[in-house]
Amino acid sequence: MLVGGRLCYGGDYNPEQWPAEVWQQDVELMRQAGVTLVTVGVFAWSRLEPAPGRYTLDWLDQVLDLLHDGGVQVALATPTASPPPWFSLAHPGALPVTADGVRLHHGSRDTYCAAAPAYRAAARRITGVLAERYARHPAVALWHVHNEYGATCHCRYAEAGFRRWLRDRHGDLDALNDAWTTSFWSQHYSDWAQVSTPRATQYLPNPTQTLDFRRYWSDELLSAYAEQRDLLRAANPAVPVTTNYVLGDWVPVDHGRWATEVDLVAVDHYPSDAGPAAEEQTALAADLARGWARHGAPRRAGPTADGRADAWLLMESAPNLIYTPGRMHTREPGRMARHSLAHVARGSRGAMFFQWRAPRGGAELFHSALVPHAGPDSRVFREAVALGGMLDRIAEVDAGAVEASVAIGWDAASGWALQQRGLPTDRLSHHDEVAATHRALWRAGYTCDPVLPGDPLDRYALLVLPALYLASDATAGWVHDYVHGGGHLVVGYLSGVADEHARIRLGGYPGAFRDVLGVRVEEFHPLADDDEIPLTGGGTGRLWSETVHLAGAEPVRAYAAGALAGSPAVTRHRYGDGVAWYVSTRPDDTTHRSLLTGAALAAGARPACPGAPDGVEAVRRRGPGASWLFLLNHTDRAQRVPATGTDLITGAVAETGLTLPAGQVAVVRERADA
Ligand code: GAL
Repeated sequence: MLVGGRLCYGGDYNPEQWPAEVWQQDVELMRQAGVTLVTVGVFAWSRLEPAPGRYTLDWLDQVLDLLHDGGVQVALATPTASPPPWFSLAHPGALPVTADGVRLHHGSRDTYCAAAPAYRAAARRITGVLAERYARHPAVALWHVHNEYGATCHCRYAEAGFRRWLRDRHGDLDALNDAWTTSFWSQHYSDWAQVSTPRATQYLPNPTQTLDFRRYWSDELLSAYAEQRDLLRAANPAVPVTTNYVLGDWVPVDHGRWATEVDLVAVDHYPSDAGPAAEEQTALAADLARGWARHGAPRRAGPTADGRADAWLLMESAPNLIYTPGRMHTREPGRMARHSLAHVARGSRGAMFFQWRAPRGGAELFHSALVPHAGPDSRVFREAVALGGMLDRIAEVDAGAVEASVAIGWDAASGWALQQRGLPTDRLSHHDEVAATHRALWRAGYTCDPVLPGDPLDRYALLVLPALYLASDATAGWVHDYVHGGGHLVVGYLSGVADEHARIRLGGYPGAFRDVLGVRVEEFHPLADDDEIPLTGGGTGRLWSETVHLAGAEPVRAYAAGALAGSPAVTRHRYGDGVAWYVSTRPDDTTHRSLLTGAALAAGARPACPGAPDGVEAVRRRGPGASWLFLLNHTDRAQRVPATGTDLITGAVAETGLTLPAGQVAVVRERADA
C-alpha cells in the first residue's frame, strides 16, 4: 500500500496559491476528511525556480513537513507542465508550434515543445533539484511526473525527432515510401529532408504520415517522461514514479505502451455527461486504466506498490462542477462517492481529486474542489468527509484483483487511424465502438478487461474486437490462435481491414480475420445519421452496413430491408475449437446487449452478480482467501440484490440478500463459501 494500509484519498494541493496560515487549516481539514495523500507542486515551477537556477524551496520544505506531521502523504509532482515566464522569454524556440505553423506564446500551461533541447534540459534540472532534496523525505510516497502529457508540436525539433524516429521504424526511404503509399498523389520522398510532420495542408493529408506522427509523438513524450523518472528513481529506488494520463481521442499517447514505463498507472477522469452515461463512462475509464495496468505489469522495471498486477490509481476527478464545452455541470449529491467507489471497485487504489481547495483566481477559478469557495461548511466538504470514512472502512479491498471473464480489444493506433479524414464515414471511432461494446456488457452486468493486441487471453471466455481497424500479421495470428484453441470471439465491423501501416488488406474485408470469421465482405454501405436498417429477429442496425458473403460461417441475423435485404448482418463460425461471430453493423443498444450476452453465455462468461437488477452495478474483487462484491445502485429506488456477506460500509450483515437504498453503495465481504 502506498499510504500505510489505507487507500489513497485526497487530491491536487496547491499551497503555493495560499498564505502559510491557510496551510495549517488545510492539514486540519484533511485530517477531518480522512485524506491520506495529496499531490503537491504540479504547476509550481515559477515558485520553485523564480529565476534560472535560483531555487526557492523553503515553502515546500515547510509544506511537506506540515503534511507529514499531520499524517498526510505526498505524491510530489515535477512542475514541468507549466514552464515559468522567464523560460519562455529565454528560449522562444522551445515554445510550441501548431500544425498551422503558428508559434504559441506563454500565458497558459503546456507552453513548451517536449522535443526542444532547452525545455528538456530545464525539465531535467528542476527534476534533479527536487529529487535531491525530497527523494528521502518521509512524506513522499509517490512521484508524480509532469501533468497529463499530450501537448503536441510541429517545430523544427519535432520535425528532426520525427525523422529520426521514422529512420528507426522504417530503416530507409524506400520502406517509408512503401509504408506511406507515397505513390498516391505524387508524395514520393527522395531525401529525408523532404519529410515533415503532418502540418496543415491542402485537402486530405497522408493517413500513414499522420498515424506515424502520433506514434512518434507518444514515444517522444515517453522519453521526456522517462528522463525524469530515471532521475527520480536514481535518487531513491524505493519510491514509485508515475504520471497522470489524460483520456480522450485527441491524446497522442499510447497509454498501454506507457504502462510498461510507469510504476503505477494513474488516470484522470472527468465524465463528459451529467446523466446516466456518466456511470458508463466511469466504468469504461476505470476498466481501461486497469487494462493498461495489467498490460504493463509483467514488463515493469520499477518498484510497484504491491504485487497486484491490475492496480492503478484514479489521480484526478471532480468533486462537483466539471468543465464541459459550453457549460459546467454539477455532480448531484451522492455521485462523488458513488463514482469514486466505482473506480475502487474496478481496481483503483483510491480516489484522488482535482482539487483540494478551490482557487481564488486563475484560469480554472470555478473548478470544483473538496474545500469549495464556500468553505468547509458546505455539502461538498461534508460529502468529502463521508467519503473519507467509507474509503477507510473498505481499505482491505486493496488486496483484491478485479474478476473479469470478457476481454475487449483496445488499440491506440487503430483509434488514431480511424481519425483519418478519407474514411467512408466520419461517424466512426475505435473509442466509440469500444464504448458501445462496453456499455452493452456493463448494462448486462459483465466486467470487462480491455486488452491490447498480443496480451495473454487465457483468463477470458470471450474476446470482443470493436473496430480494431489495424491488424498486423502478429495481431491476426493472436486472434487466430485464441479462437483455434477454443476461445470465443466477436468481431465488429471495420476490424482487421488494414495492416499496421493503414494499408488495406486486399481480397475482401476484414482481411486479417476473414478465415477465422468465415466471411468475406465485398462492400461497405455507410448509413446516414438517421438511417436504421431492420434486422431479422428484431432490432436495427445503424451507422454502417456491409455486403457480407458467407465463407463457412452461418447467418445469425440478416438485414431485413433495403438493398441488403436477406443478406447476412451477423454471423457465427465454428473455427478450430472455438467460435467466431461477426457483426457487420452497429446494433441498437438493446440488440447489441442481447447479441453480446448471447455470445458471452455461450462462451461460459458470467456477470459478477447474476440476478442483480438493471441499474445496479456489480463488480467482484478477489484476493487471497477473500472476495468483495461492490454493488452500486445508480437508480433512484431501493433495490434488492442477491448478495450475502457483510457490508463494510454500513456493517450490516446480509443473510439472504441485501436491500440497497437509492444511490447507495455496498461493499460486501462475501462469505468464504460464496
Ligand atoms: C485536468 C488537469 C487539471 C485540471 C483539470 C480540470 O485534466 O490535470 O490540472 O486542469 O483537468 O478539470
